[in-house]
Amino acid sequence: MCGISAYIGEKEAVPILLEGIKRLEYRGYDSCGVATIFEKELVCRKGAGKIKDVNSKLKLFELKGCVGIAQTRWATHGEPNDVNAHPHFSENKEIAIVHNGIIENASSLRKVLREKGYNFRSKTDSEVVAFLIEDLIKEGNSMGDAFMKALKLVEGAFAIVAINRKKPHKLYVAKQSSPLVLGIANDGLYVASDILPIQKYTRKVVYLQDGDVGILTKSNYSIRDLSNVDVNRDVNELNEEIEETSIGNFEHFMLKEIHEQPKTIHRAFRGRIDNDTAKFGGLNISEKELKRIKRIILVGCGTSWHACLVGGYLLEDIAKIPSQVEYASEFRYKKPVLKEDDLLVVLSQSGETADSIAAINEAKKKGVKTIGLVNSVGSSIARLVDGGIYLHAGQEIGVASTKTFTSHLAVLYLLSVYLGRLNGSLDSEKAKEMLNELEGIPGIVSEMLKDSSKIEEVASKYFEGNNALYLGRHYNFPIALEGALKLKEISYIHAEGYPAAEMKHGPIALIDENMPVVVIAPEGRLYSKILSNIEEVKSRRGKVIVITTNGLEDGFDEVIKIPKVSDYLMPLVSVIPVQLLSYYVAKKRGCDIDKPRNLAKSVTVE
Ligand code: F6R
Repeated sequence: MCGISAYIGEKEAVPILLEGIKRLEYRGYDSCGVATIFEKELVCRKGAGKIKDVNSKLKLFELKGCVGIAQTRWATHGEPNDVNAHPHFSENKEIAIVHNGIIENASSLRKVLREKGYNFRSKTDSEVVAFLIEDLIKEGNSMGDAFMKALKLVEGAFAIVAINRKKPHKLYVAKQSSPLVLGIANDGLYVASDILPIQKYTRKVVYLQDGDVGILTKSNYSIRDLSNVDVNRDVNELNEEIEETSIGNFEHFMLKEIHEQPKTIHRAFRGRIDNDTAKFGGLNISEKELKRIKRIILVGCGTSWHACLVGGYLLEDIAKIPSQVEYASEFRYKKPVLKEDDLLVVLSQSGETADSIAAINEAKKKGVKTIGLVNSVGSSIARLVDGGIYLHAGQEIGVASTKTFTSHLAVLYLLSVYLGRLNGSLDSEKAKEMLNELEGIPGIVSEMLKDSSKIEEVASKYFEGNNALYLGRHYNFPIALEGALKLKEISYIHAEGYPAAEMKHGPIALIDENMPVVVIAPEGRLYSKILSNIEEVKSRRGKVIVITTNGLEDGFDEVIKIPKVSDYLMPLVSVIPVQLLSYYVAKKRGCDIDKPRNLAKSVTVE
């Protein structure tokens, strides 16, 4: 989390930095700030709030200088306030740093520095780095050496950029576990947490690796590892087009992204259907190796984990491969028993989620092949896995994931068909029929999105509640989880998702006339079973909002109709109303839908 932008070159830095952190605001938005060196002075302005508000209040745009650093923050240590905002100065105010990550030994380092007489200003873990550099300079080190030595003392995850008033022609950068990218342009060097702030200025980028420490001037750079040995990093050429990120006629990016789904689902399978199977360009695992796979482990976090759950069902149902779903954050520490004939499939929108990266590293250590289903091109996960399938959904700006969830589902469906064909569990005719049905989904979703009046009406009736329960079975159980997560995230209503039959093992105690229960109950294999679960809710006077297939509308408080598709593809359809319901409820409650409190889109700390 936290977005870093820095520049050294011929141009005025601040317009570049402000635009840079604006592009990175999805990573965190509780406070922000900028520091530059101008006429031998190190100047800084920073404060709590979103960039737009801080900029108009503190006039960040007024700062001058051709070298500077900026950050938009998502607080880990120290509440989001003016003092804890980045950049942070050393005690003598000669050095300023921005940091993304967590310095895990910050309190012991602070203690040592306090004993030496230093007084800290903020409650952050980050500030200690600036103080350490100052202390090491006082011991006789050059800025470059002090920067390197300070980084050897800190433990944890960091992407750091520093400037020193006395070295106005240099930027100091370092990376360990948190991403940092250099952009090389004719006018200077750009630094950022990802390529988004850079791609407009140059197509040449260097992805720093863990342990890299660099010194940049406006026309050159050198990189060393933490043992002070020069390292060479490839200069990569960005091929992808610069993405359109305007909000168009929509009131929020989330609504825009919900409405983009016919297009993004189509993009997820475009060019990947080959008669009676699927094809992928970047799997990088041979068919022979894939045929040997005995178990698939799907890992992800949050919404991506919900997509993993659907994927687990699809892979077992269609490709008949035993599949298991794990939270990346648990998987990394549970000492998983892994075998070489396992395959790890990692799902991530951002491609930067720290826990998912750790899960990949855990699998790789044990010789397990890894595949990433990622949206962000060139992201850390995309570069780390053995092979991958991009979602091609375009940048997702709303913090709550919507379009990338359905893209994940479409890709998992294709992957299941591909593996099913490969291992012979799926015959050609059935595969053709299944692929044909997938091709029809964008049209179906497009029709659904034409009229959301019923969902808006339901939102108007229930938006003032404090709780909600979401129930679903089998393929629609992950949709119940996703519906509850979306509602929590953007409207701050407490919501739980449950497998419908589990309800009677506990949550049923919550049900009374004030509890709205959203039941995802399309016709299908378990329809009669879920009807019984609905009766259990009704008997306790719970308010039943049923999402079901056209034509079934008896005996429920509210009915949201969806078209009938096969069980496999139903989650692509049944998720649309739960996304819209959370959106309209949050809108009625006046919430900041695209930037909900406490959240960030890229979770680069564990
Ligand atoms: C929820 C949401 C998060 C992310 C999670 C994983 O709307 O967006 O739960 O799904 O933080 O992020 P990625 O997919 O980037 O790894």
